[in-house]
Amino acid sequence: MKIVVRFLTKEFTSGSGNVRALGGVDFEVRDREFFGIIGPTGCGKTTLLHIIAGLEQPTTGSVEFIGEKRTKSMVSMVFQESALMPWRSVEENVPLGAEFRNEHPSILKRVSQFFLEVVRLLDFGKARPYELSGGMKQKVAIARALANDPEVILMDEPFASLDAQTRLLMREELLRIWERDKKTVILVTHNLDEAVMLCDRIAVMSSAPGLIKSIITVDVPRPRNFRSMKDPDFARCTEKIWDLLRYDVDQAMRQNSV
Ligand SMILES: Nc1ncnc2c1ncn2[C@@H]1O[C@H](COP(=O)(O)OP(=O)(O)O)[C@@H](O)[C@H]1O
Ligand SMILES: [Mg+2]
Repeated sequence: MKIVVRFLTKEFTSGSGNVRALGGVDFEVRDREFFGIIGPTGCGKTTLLHIIAGLEQPTTGSVEFIGEKRTKSMVSMVFQESALMPWRSVEENVPLGAEFRNEHPSILKRVSQFFLEVVRLLDFGKARPYELSGGMKQKVAIARALANDPEVILMDEPFASLDAQTRLLMREELLRIWERDKKTVILVTHNLDEAVMLCDRIAVMSSAPGLIKSIITVDVPRPRNFRSMKDPDFARCTEKIWDLLRYDVDQAMRQNSV
């Protein structure tokens, strides 16, 4: 599924006045592309994903999905915190999409088993979310997104709460899963290595109101893994992104006085 985003702006009105979160964002994501969005805190990345997911209305502009719908749903989202239902077991958390579609319990069970196998958590089906590590919870959230059988997966800093080593593992896992069943993915991250390791192209955003400064093509060959980070093209790419970002990160830091 191709995604066409045209002239998106978003203004929030609150008691203390108006916040212009997006200042006219325009880009296209290709069918089955792994597309990254990177930018300083507060530049409107989450707002942009919410608008694409239909969770939020833009002030102006449009989002269009172009292509034949081959799967059961259009969009699944993976949030920064896994947002699992704590009272349900892992295997009951995974097939939510199928449950909403009123599919038979035997199908729910099969969907759950299949996708827990994909993320290598089949042995934890009966566990409750609180019994899992942060990385495992995010894998369940990814399994749930995949099990919904969407055309497009939107991920909002899915690994931000994980430690550095778990992050590395999760990147490789996500690559393995994506290589297996290529979906159109938009990944929001503030991690340069993560963006370059995973993405075909990366949109670099400027600080608020969010605009796309540049779209970088990642030339590092696939399949990629940990060793790809040693590739000279990998270093060149992260450098290019950092050159685009550093001024805006500095600006954002001053604005938010963090
Ligand atoms: N519901 C809301 N009401 C008011 N302001 C909001 C709301 N959501 C986000 N914002 C503001 O919009 C800007 C962009 O936020 P966000 O999309 O969360 O940025 P990011 O994900 O890049 O950190 C911020 O200034 C934020 O405070
Ligand atoms: Mg955000």
